[in-house]
Amino acid sequence: MNQYVIAIDQGTTSTRAIIFDHSGAIVSSGQMEHEQIFPQAGWVEHDASEIWNNTREVIGSALSKANLTRHDIAAVGITNQRETAVVWDKTTGKPVYNAIVWQDTRTQDIVDQLAKDGGAERFKQKVGLPLATYFSGTKIKWILDNVDGAREKAEAGDLVFGNTDAWVLWNLTGGVDGGVHVTDVTNASRTLFMDLETLQWDDEILGIFGVPRSMMPEIKSSSEVYGEVHGSQLLRETPVAGILGDQQAATFGQAAFDAGEAKNTYGTGCFLIFNTGEEIVHSKNGLLTTVGYKLGDAKPHYALEGSIAVTGSLVQWLRDNLGMISSAPEVEALAASVSDNGGVYIVPAFSGLFAPYWRSDARGAIVGLTRFVNKNHIARAALEATAFQTREVLDAVNADSGVPLSELKVDGGMVANDALMQFQADILGVPVIRPKVIETTALGAAYAAGLAVGFWKDLGECSANWSEDKRWEPQMDKAEQERQMRLWKKAVTKSMDWVD
Ligand code: G3P
Repeated sequence: MNQYVIAIDQGTTSTRAIIFDHSGAIVSSGQMEHEQIFPQAGWVEHDASEIWNNTREVIGSALSKANLTRHDIAAVGITNQRETAVVWDKTTGKPVYNAIVWQDTRTQDIVDQLAKDGGAERFKQKVGLPLATYFSGTKIKWILDNVDGAREKAEAGDLVFGNTDAWVLWNLTGGVDGGVHVTDVTNASRTLFMDLETLQWDDEILGIFGVPRSMMPEIKSSSEVYGEVHGSQLLRETPVAGILGDQQAATFGQAAFDAGEAKNTYGTGCFLIFNTGEEIVHSKNGLLTTVGYKLGDAKPHYALEGSIAVTGSLVQWLRDNLGMISSAPEVEALAASVSDNGGVYIVPAFSGLFAPYWRSDARGAIVGLTRFVNKNHIARAALEATAFQTREVLDAVNADSGVPLSELKVDGGMVANDALMQFQADILGVPVIRPKVIETTALGAAYAAGLAVGFWKDLGECSANWSEDKRWEPQMDKAEQERQMRLWKKAVTKSMDWVD
């Protein structure tokens, strides 16, 4: 009875349900991709109803593959793509518009307008974030300003907002029949609306954006019982007890619980999170300040974050838009077939540049092309772009913290790529370490839920589950490392100031 915890990982490209046992090992999983909708350049949307249907499906497949029922499951944890904004009518349960995805840049005009009064950092001291299209706030405003009748309905109290954690939770706990409208502190810290000190919505900022407070979910900790499942028969009455935004969840799953610990997750984008403990640290080097986690009534842990918008999705672009490869893992063989990048650098600024630059006027650039260059060099440059961007973020973390990181824990899909991990260690000059369980995002959400119901008794029990699988030692000499970084930074300058 109750020997497992299930985590729902509602990510950018797919939704997964993963069942873990007490040792943190994966027992079974289900996964479904959802459509990426690109209505015009710079716009990225998801169908939130498709996401909810997929959530129910993957719960079913994870349970049935392992021959388990709800009686075997102690708790449900949720982790999610952060910032992606869903606005739905709580009387019908229907979204009023597609979910606007974190990568979407349509709100640039709103950002510019708001920045006229006080600059892009006008709310940063309070919320930890610069004004940027990345965060949920401008997306909510766009929906209220552009969807017919939305503002009136919102003001009447019928429309509510959530990142996909809140959308999944509301549906899971019953939807129109009593679903709970709650988010956790980590997701709330990605909206532009949460005060990092009070962990509550800030009325002044909501007022400036014109977003009614009644739309906003109640902010709770990352680990407590929010409600019971009523929206899925398969998990009926199971407590939903943990929520963490996916990057914070990966940090938790890596057992980086204490100040000074960090991880880097290689997914569609790359996100390096550095735990600063109970202290709110404001970056001087282009990093975000965010909530790392909060367990029940305990004090929150904060973090510095270096967000990189495009890493794995550059490989998908080579596959889907250029047709250069037929599956993402093929990129490794192409890259490995040449001894270097042939002088090519790719700056994948598809959504502008995030950390440490925060330049929404940047667009992707491929530089250094000569007649010599072939697709193998392009593949290699695409992988190297991930490592260069990570190095820039790590430099910012080191500058902010004053104590250079001596190693980097990594996870996410791309860490299966040996060539990339070796190049990453080379370009960072510190060892890169992969744990045995690389599904740290789902594991972190499982831990948060399991801790709330006593499935795991404390953080020590979770830490004991972490073990190293592989480590890459840096091999590149310093002069070559510096030459590579110099060329990379030069390439970055070519991508800036591109938007007309
Ligand atoms: O901030 C965006 C991030 O949470 C998305 O992560 O892994 O779904 O690409 P992922």
